[in-house]
Amino acid sequence: MSDSQSPPETEIRDPAALFTYDLAAVYDMEVKLVDALADLSETATNDNLSKGFALHRTETETQVRRVEDAFDALGAEPTRRADPLVDGLIAAQAQVEGDVADAALRNRRYLTLAIQTEQIEITSYEGLLATAAKAGLGDDVTDPLAANLGQEEKTLRKLEALAGAGGPDLGRLWRRITSA
Ligand SMILES: [Fe+2]
Repeated sequence: MSDSQSPPETEIRDPAALFTYDLAAVYDMEVKLVDALADLSETATNDNLSKGFALHRTETETQVRRVEDAFDALGAEPTRRADPLVDGLIAAQAQVEGDVADAALRNRRYLTLAIQTEQIEITSYEGLLATAAKAGLGDDVTDPLAANLGQEEKTLRKLEALAGAGGPDLGRLWRRITSA
């Protein structure tokens, strides 16, 4: 894993170069989300929400490895490009921690933030896969990313079910959907 925050491409003129550029941002996003989910798991006071964030942290560690597999398949070194989207999400998380005094309301806001994060991740993977198709990249590059996309979509459905059912205080529902 590289700690470099510099862009892997300075001039992007074809879909393959755009793909590598965007992959570096997704890599940065997933790496940063591992730590953000650890923070959320610690700061959420609702036990079931906290366990859900811990579970998704483990999944995100796997997603980081899958993005590294995509770089490997490209014959490129895994490289991070600072992604302003994930930086914004992490800043929003810190803002909730500082501004929302009520624990139940804070848990509810964390749930919304988790949904926003999944939506951004899903859109990012969809974009990457569309660019990969344009660039004519092989399954060895796209399969790990499609696996991550499927996992993010599943997580989004769980989070939306939880939010739709009234928020993170419905522990029984959370256990039912996370054990599926
Ligand atoms: Fe992810």
